Amino acid sequence: MKMFTEEQKASVPRVIAVTSGKGGTGKTFITVNLAKAFCQQGKNVILLDGDFGLANVHLLLDKKPNHDLEAILSNECSIEDILIPVSERFSMIPGGRGKPFMAQLTPYQLLGLINAMDDIATRPDILLLDTAGTISAGELQLIAAAGEIIMVVTPDMLSLQDAADYIHQLYIHHHIQRFLLIANLTKNHREENKILEKLHSMIGFGIDIILKPLGHIPKDECVIKSSMCKHINPKIFPQSKTIKSIKQMTEKLCREPIKSFARGGLTFFYEQHITLHKGI
Ligand SMILES: Nc1ncnc2c1ncn2[C@@H]1O[C@H](COP(=O)(O)OP(=O)(O)OP(=O)(O)O)[C@@H](O)[C@H]1O
Ligand SMILES: [Mg+2]
Repeated sequence: MKMFTEEQKASVPRVIAVTSGKGGTGKTFITVNLAKAFCQQGKNVILLDGDFGLANVHLLLDKKPNHDLEAILSNECSIEDILIPVSERFSMIPGGRGKPFMAQLTPYQLLGLINAMDDIATRPDILLLDTAGTISAGELQLIAAAGEIIMVVTPDMLSLQDAADYIHQLYIHHHIQRFLLIANLTKNHREENKILEKLHSMIGFGIDIILKPLGHIPKDECVIKSSMCKHINPKIFPQSKTIKSIKQMTEKLCREPIKSFARGGLTFFYEQHITLHKGI
């Protein structure tokens, strides 16, 4: 078990995973924009692309990585070597692209990657983790290692059912009870509330799960029109409803103290919390 100095413990970043049961709900789009919004509030952010099979955060940020997480696994590079600066306060770690084996890492390989995060020289305030939204044991393990989990849903019934199933799996296998919820592609607060109600009923009211709404994001015409600029620059789109919603979400997150999960709290950099033997 790794030992940490008091100073290291104090500098453990807030780790927020963004996931969803279904593909295409807007996870990557939201994660990139959350990162930008956190930076605007003075936070130092690292975005880890946790979609190890078809990573695309770098595409949205218009970056061309020379190496990705595979180079960490093969000991070719250190985490510092693959860190890509995006802006003054924002860096990203590229996942793997077009490498099927990267999408099927063993628990020990995942643990190796998680441990590699400890070698980041300048620790960020916030580490955001974009995920593939598959329901593999490896992905559940990775998400379970984050301190907070944002579940992205849309009004689509399939997205809600998949989110309910995903939440069940995280609850059953990793004892996670608390989820933050973003209702993407949602018209208004009333629709967001309906989504929340439906999701609750799909999960089943008998089980002890807390869904905490972070807010809703409407379908944004700016994004649709500007597919080359998906990480919407607020200077270009000052009126973007997405920018406003996401800014409000980061403000909400910054106001709230980090709430430890019943399962044991903020964990990303603490290998003892990784349940190697408990994957599904
Ligand atoms: N609120 C929104 N308004 C308009 N377009 C959006 C919105 N949210 C997401 N999109 C668009 O929807 C598409 C899918 O988004 P994105 O790639 O972020 O989804 P994902 O959940 O990360 O998908 P995957 O599961 O494949 O990783 C993208 O083209 C994105 O720009
Ligand atoms: Mg994605």
